Amino acid sequence: MTAASPAAEGWAESLAGWALPAELLASVDQSPYAWPARVFACTATRRSDPVTGPLLLQLLPEAGSLIDVGAGTGRLSLPIAAAGHRVLAVEPNAAMAAELERGTASMTGSVAVVRRRWPEVAAAVGPHDVALTANVVYDVADIGPFLEALDRSATLAVVVELTQRHPWDGLRGYYRSLHDVELPDGPTVDDLVAVIGEVIGVTPQRRDWPSPRSLTFESRDALLELYATRLCVRDDRRSELEQLIGDDIEEIDDGAIALRLPSGGMTTLWWEKPANARAP
Ligand SMILES: C[S@@+](CC[C@H](N)C(=O)[O-])C[C@H]1O[C@@H](n2cnc3c(N)ncnc32)[C@H](O)[C@@H]1O
Repeated sequence: MTAASPAAEGWAESLAGWALPAELLASVDQSPYAWPARVFACTATRRSDPVTGPLLLQLLPEAGSLIDVGAGTGRLSLPIAAAGHRVLAVEPNAAMAAELERGTASMTGSVAVVRRRWPEVAAAVGPHDVALTANVVYDVADIGPFLEALDRSATLAVVVELTQRHPWDGLRGYYRSLHDVELPDGPTVDDLVAVIGEVIGVTPQRRDWPSPRSLTFESRDALLELYATRLCVRDDRRSELEQLIGDDIEEIDDGAIALRLPSGGMTTLWWEKPANARAP
């Protein structure tokens, strides 16, 4: 059971501040929180991975095992499996999991997929050499049990990748303009480091690195559709949205486009299990 952790309580309180006004949520058909698998797959195939992937390869022994919690479409799982490691991907979103499985079809390694939430499923999966969670923690209010279960499931090391600030941080100007809604400041990566200190009892190693573009799209329509959903914009305000974000749309390599959002940077945190400590 998780011991009381003021830092974990602070994490939950800060995340609660991101709840959008009920009347705004009620005014739209689609939840702004949805994870569209196609957009995510499009982004994942274009995102460079200068830190977390290489670190995982360093931490894993030969033919090792990785559990990837909140694996999405397999941005990190697939290359690790292709390098000859066993990977268990935990992914509750059916569309994301299906996209991940599609990705395994054309590769030599394999990824087993469990369509369940963490930590509910933790007791049912065996230990792995390394446990990973990337870009998930800001979705997790009850962060203590989530991290504890991650720590218990790893025999060698735990790796957590996250944005330094909340992933919606770059949307604050748009929310202010469209809805007069002020998005909160925290929590941040420093708050998570404090939670890890209190809940796991370690100071994680840390590497900060420049943020990649947030989401990438194959067409302007796809981009507008996603941001209309994210920003709770109904069809009758669609032209207002286009005007607001139009100048921020930029073309990137190979014809894909993205929204130029203020960048907050990425961080990879990791800690090794005491009995097996070794330099990465
Ligand atoms: C932003 S995506 C990150 C995907 C991938 N890890 C990456 O970095 O590219 C977050 C994913 O976490 C999943 N997720 C959210 N809460 C979760 C939980 N409690 N247990 C497992 N997965 C979760 C979502 O379904 C979503 O696919």
